[in-house]
Amino acid sequence: MRIDIGSAKPLEHATPALVIGCFEDDRDPLYHDCDTALGGLLGRLAESREFTGKHGSARLLHTLGRLPAERLLLVGLGKKKDISAERLRQGAGNAVSALRGARVASFSSALHHAASLPHAAETVAMGMLLGSYSFEQYKTKEKELRFTFDAVTVLLDSGEEAEAERQALERARIVSEGVTLARDLVSHPGNVVTPVYLAQAARELAERNGLECRVYELEELERMGMNALVGVGKGAAVAPRLIVLRYQGGKGRPVALVGKGITFDSGGISIKPGAGMEAMKTDMAGSAAVLGTMEAAARLKLPVNLVGIVPTAENMPDGNAFKPGDILTSLSGTTIEITNTDAEGRLILCDALHFAREQFKPAAMVDLATLTGACVVALGHEASGLMGNDQRLVDALKRAGDETGERVWPLPLWEEYGEVMKSDVADLKNAGSRDGGAISAGWFLKQFVGDTRWAHLDIAGTAWNDKARPYGPKGATGVGVRLLLEFLQAR
Ligand code: BES
Ligand code: MN
Ligand code: ZN
Repeated sequence: MRIDIGSAKPLEHATPALVIGCFEDDRDPLYHDCDTALGGLLGRLAESREFTGKHGSARLLHTLGRLPAERLLLVGLGKKKDISAERLRQGAGNAVSALRGARVASFSSALHHAASLPHAAETVAMGMLLGSYSFEQYKTKEKELRFTFDAVTVLLDSGEEAEAERQALERARIVSEGVTLARDLVSHPGNVVTPVYLAQAARELAERNGLECRVYELEELERMGMNALVGVGKGAAVAPRLIVLRYQGGKGRPVALVGKGITFDSGGISIKPGAGMEAMKTDMAGSAAVLGTMEAAARLKLPVNLVGIVPTAENMPDGNAFKPGDILTSLSGTTIEITNTDAEGRLILCDALHFAREQFKPAAMVDLATLTGACVVALGHEASGLMGNDQRLVDALKRAGDETGERVWPLPLWEEYGEVMKSDVADLKNAGSRDGGAISAGWFLKQFVGDTRWAHLDIAGTAWNDKARPYGPKGATGVGVRLLLEFLQAR
């Protein structure tokens, strides 16, 4: 969906649909003017409780020529005191859902006028852009029945500083395109998005944005001693890779972003049950978040140095596959007894984290991974698990989560949680007990970061929506991109 800026007064502006907001307990002058123009229709809807402004509601009306806009879309924003950036974004998402239902492809928005929040226009644009996403590349039938948005015109007040607002909307567009990149990568199936595909996507991204990109292939990974990453990739027809992207936008040591890139997780020899296994094409959502963030950060010209690191492999069972009982010597030298080949994410990450630390001496490292089913049990689909070795870093990510609505929730990493990860025959084993599984996985990663400031986000429950949400359809969420960009911007 394109995003345009308009300066017309909402009541004098011809458009297929005009979007306005209203609170349950407060109505702004624009609402009253619309009500007057429509002969009291809005008041009637409120009286009969057909539209009261409840958060989550939206009501599309035809104006029958009483306004220059053909339709008016009322968006409920709830109680005035409860308004927040997240609620406004959700309202914007609800608006595009209603417009999609009515197949209105172009429309104008005055929604941000209702909420007196900082950056309201940017927030609304973000909700609308993210909400307009759909992934239909593999649908070949009835193309003519399919619907795509054309453009939204954001109506700015004459008082609003046009240049600053233009830049804010441009930011929203860039960020939403980073999220879209991540969503697309996760949505494509595992026979398309392979380690080769991710490497190519990273090269093209680097090319587009003037980033450095280096892809380490199998031979080099073996020579370097990245045996944990190599081990995981053994059973697959496509070899594993390590992708490294660099963006230089500032001074000082970089922030390293590390993303799990398992393009399909069958479980390997410790194979998963068949039911639902198709969901494991999403096991590269961490890598998608890193790529989306790198691209957006470069386009936003964020004044930071970044390294994006993606270890990528397919976890498959065959005669060459690594197997339970195997012992791998990781890049750091720490030996790992494999007790479950389905605990593969931590293996590719432990080598990537050690590599990041040695190679780039980062000021901080953040990894994102669809790492454990246990994290989904703990937090459901409402928050990503957050662990780390540095309280300030953890707090900063928590704030970024609250700000963006990509919520994260802390889990402890006490030493006691590591007891189950100790092996009789090697330094560590890769899987312990099911109890506290998200944490023991985090504890395992912690063994490879040394004294580098580090945080880990377990996005197993947040990378994929089983149901549509206000500004994200069913399917890939692109989680992590907005969170990381907000975190980097606030640094
Ligand atoms: N990719 C899975 C975790 C996952 C589960 C992601 C559900 C998204 C949704 C991961 O590789 C895995 O299989 N983890 C195991 C670890 C166990 C064997 C210690 C798990 O969570 O069961
Ligand atoms: Mn697994
Ligand atoms: Zn996995």
